[in-house]
Amino acid sequence: MPLEVGADGLLPLAVEGLVFEAGGQRLIDGLDLRLEAGPLTAILGPNGAGKSLLLRLLHGLIAPSAGRVSWGGRVPERALRLRQALVFQRPVLLRRSVAANLRYALAAHGVDRARRKALAAEWLARAGLGHLAGRPARVLSGGEQQRLAVARALACEPEVLLLDEPTASLDPASAQAIETLIREARAAGTKVVLVTHDLGQAWRLAEQVVFLYRGRVEEHAAAEDFFVRPASERARAFVAGRLVL
Ligand SMILES: Nc1ncnc2c1ncn2[C@@H]1O[C@H](COP(=O)(O)OP(=O)(O)OP(=O)(O)O)[C@@H](O)[C@H]1O
Ligand SMILES: [Mg+2]
Repeated sequence: MPLEVGADGLLPLAVEGLVFEAGGQRLIDGLDLRLEAGPLTAILGPNGAGKSLLLRLLHGLIAPSAGRVSWGGRVPERALRLRQALVFQRPVLLRRSVAANLRYALAAHGVDRARRKALAAEWLARAGLGHLAGRPARVLSGGEQQRLAVARALACEPEVLLLDEPTASLDPASAQAIETLIREARAAGTKVVLVTHDLGQAWRLAEQVVFLYRGRVEEHAAAEDFFVRPASERARAFVAGRLVL
């Protein structure tokens, strides 16, 4: 269960007419999307399609050039953002120990001091990082940093968990361990939105798929429909591993 259950949930996460422009380019191009509570949603699409930008916009970290983002019908605001977690494609860790990174996040989520230490240890163990608890987070390997970022996000028991390629640089066993944690979060009622290039992983975990292409939603379908009978030619090509230009 989330640590702090508000009276009003953050779902659906919705965007309407979303546009994001930078450097004279329209990178998110009039995107409409509604993500309901429940099903694990995978966001798929070629490099540069706008997946990471969409996660940042959904999380309220960057402001759209036009259109709007809403969380459970409400305008995004800082206090509500604490009930979501975004794990970045490139993890952002604090210049302190692995365990302290976790304790810091727990403190920011109002967990009292007495519980922080035990919870941090528990989550480090679940992410297979127990033996690294005292190490400075910044010296961890790329895969270890990614695991720490996922563990830190999960420890805060968010209502919405946005994951940007969380297993991209993990060895197979670690990737499997993280997939298990993602499944457990889903089973506990967290809305998980997962960006991944690992189609096997999307097949294993996703219940629905949003296929992005050049800043727009090209397809939003039940996962099985997307993989077995994609509606658009681009989605067919993507699923077949052909280059989508
Ligand atoms: N601040 C910015 N200024 C200019 N261009 C940007 C900015 N941020 C992102 N872009 C461009 O927007 C496009 C979408 O970027 P984004 O990071 O969302 O892609 P992505 O779908 O996550 O790709 P990948 O699969 O490679 O991670 C890219 O072409 C990127 O170069
Ligand atoms: Mg990306």
